[in-house]
Amino acid sequence: MDLLQQIYNIGIIPVIKIEKPEEDAYDLAKALCDGGVPVAEVTFRTEGAARGIQIMREGFPDMLVGVGTIFTTDQAKQAISAGAKFIVSPGFDQEVVAYCKGQGIPIFPGCITPTEIQMAIKEGLSIIKFYPAEQSGGLNTIKALSAPFGSVKFMPTGGISLENLGAYLAHRAIIACGGSYMVTDELILNKKWDEITHLCEKSVEVVNE
Ligand code: 3PG
Repeated sequence: MDLLQQIYNIGIIPVIKIEKPEEDAYDLAKALCDGGVPVAEVTFRTEGAARGIQIMREGFPDMLVGVGTIFTTDQAKQAISAGAKFIVSPGFDQEVVAYCKGQGIPIFPGCITPTEIQMAIKEGLSIIKFYPAEQSGGLNTIKALSAPFGSVKFMPTGGISLENLGAYLAHRAIIACGGSYMVTDELILNKKWDEITHLCEKSVEVVNE
């Protein structure tokens, strides 16, 4: 199955900030997989992000581990070396997009405005991260944008919760949502792996509705 189909099937991408990869990355990945969400966007916001990706990939070879918060080609390179299978950026950066295309790795840049979406289309991309989703008008904005941009698929992230996940996923233009509600700093800091698994299970129920 290809990566995009896998992302569509899972429906929700946990957006992770990992401070202590040696201590937490394996248990965290296990908690996600046990909950039926074998995917992660490990953000490049911590020193240990690349190591976290490596540990998750080694422990769970079938898990779809990607990277987020990528601003530069150098970061993209490090993340790909660590094993990242896809790249996410909060915004659109032409250099990063070109680099990822050259490496043959899927890139989902953050786009909110029609101009940004046109820039992505010009690069041959058809999936964009819609970020920050709720703060930018949420589903209503996506509905409006999907009229002119009928071939684009959106990955809304920012303000996604168990309460609004189902409404987003019901729209045909949405491939999956991203969110941190099942992997908050508090849950990871206190090693609440069972709760993370439980929140993933709840998410899967919503995805399957
Ligand atoms: C991010 O931090 O990249 C996303 O905005 C996550 O947003 P959330 O914490 O609102 O899910």
